[in-house]
Amino acid sequence: MNRELRARIMHIVGAGVFTGLSLALGCQDGAGGSAEIAGGTGGAGGAGGAGEQGGAGGQGGAGGQGGAGGQGGVAETRCFPPEEVRANAGAGGAGGAGGSAATCPSQYHPNPVSCVLYENGRLEDGQCCYDVNNPGVGACGRPFFVGGEPRLAGVEARADWVLADATDEPLALDPATRAALAEAWLADARLEHASVASFARFALDLLALGAPPALIDAAQRALSDELHHARACFTLASRYAGRSLGPGTLALDGALDAPTLASAAASAVREGCVGETLAALQAGAQRSRARDPEVRRALDRIAADEAAHAELAWAFVRWAAARGGEPVRAAVARAFDEALAAVRAARGPERAGIDAAAWHDHGRLTEAERARCHLDAVREVIAPCAEALLSTPPTPPTPPTPPAPSAAPAAIAGPGAPA
Ligand SMILES: [Fe+2]
Ligand SMILES: [Fe+2]
Repeated sequence: MNRELRARIMHIVGAGVFTGLSLALGCQDGAGGSAEIAGGTGGAGGAGGAGEQGGAGGQGGAGGQGGAGGQGGVAETRCFPPEEVRANAGAGGAGGAGGSAATCPSQYHPNPVSCVLYENGRLEDGQCCYDVNNPGVGACGRPFFVGGEPRLAGVEARADWVLADATDEPLALDPATRAALAEAWLADARLEHASVASFARFALDLLALGAPPALIDAAQRALSDELHHARACFTLASRYAGRSLGPGTLALDGALDAPTLASAAASAVREGCVGETLAALQAGAQRSRARDPEVRRALDRIAADEAAHAELAWAFVRWAAARGGEPVRAAVARAFDEALAAVRAARGPERAGIDAAAWHDHGRLTEAERARCHLDAVREVIAPCAEALLSTPPTPPTPPTPPAPSAAPAAIAGPGAPA
């Protein structure tokens, strides 16, 4: 399946044609996995202020975040049975002397917006702490970087982001696995939500840079796709959490600088050529293992859409490199070098204490599987396509294709295509 996407991207970067078509995708399973997994071990989980309540594993590898102290290298969602909640409440929990309720460890709720499952971080009987500020290593669509840092909204208890056709089938899952699934899908939901903002900014960048209308049209359709992805993931997270969840506010300060061809192309490399290519192949790998019907339905659409978004990014970079010449090509080459180095180095902690079969059934990969998927994607798809893109002789851009009169997506004539 990697070969299918590579062929489509090669067609884009070589012949310079964007068709808007999508594919059935997935990282290749089975033998022959990559041997180049690198990176550090998981970060150490912070113990927070909750006494015996251990912290979540921090994000490991280069650039990862990790708390101080606590358990190292294991991502963990903490569930608190009623007796433990009461015991902690009696001891004051983390709320200080005389507190009346147990609380999440501090790293779960650094601000009230991000831990609204609990009022100011306080737990009710049977609730779980989700590490909502640790989206984990990897990709789930197009990230929304501001000043080099991923920008995410918080989480709120709300029902309007849950899809109307959500299933109410009961779940036969142990509490720890169910809580971990809620956390994982909640992290994906926040990343998908951020992708909406990323495409909104990308559409503005395209307008500012005088891009062809077919690229702008594809960007606004991708924004709509990401909105659906976010809702699908919030729907799944709500199902596992047992309560309706949606996004809070998203800070936009500093997010709208005036773009140049070089800066926009470099962003598209990081967020699209790398981020969405990985996302498409990872979603395919998750889908190939999933058995839950609602999860499979969500991943079917996400995998297909992310592939189309990846194609859009490669088409834009091809157009920008041809239009902007050597300075843009140099920025693109640098962005690929940096982004691929980060992918090769990224390695997060494995989850402990969950039902591995159920984890796959409900659409999740182990960290080793995710890392192998990404490294195979770099080796088999992204790196060769980047090499082809950068080795294609620059040619003057052709006039953009006139908009198609029908609703069908117009092919985008690339710089090397006949007018
Ligand atoms: Fe996407
Ligand atoms: Fe997405």
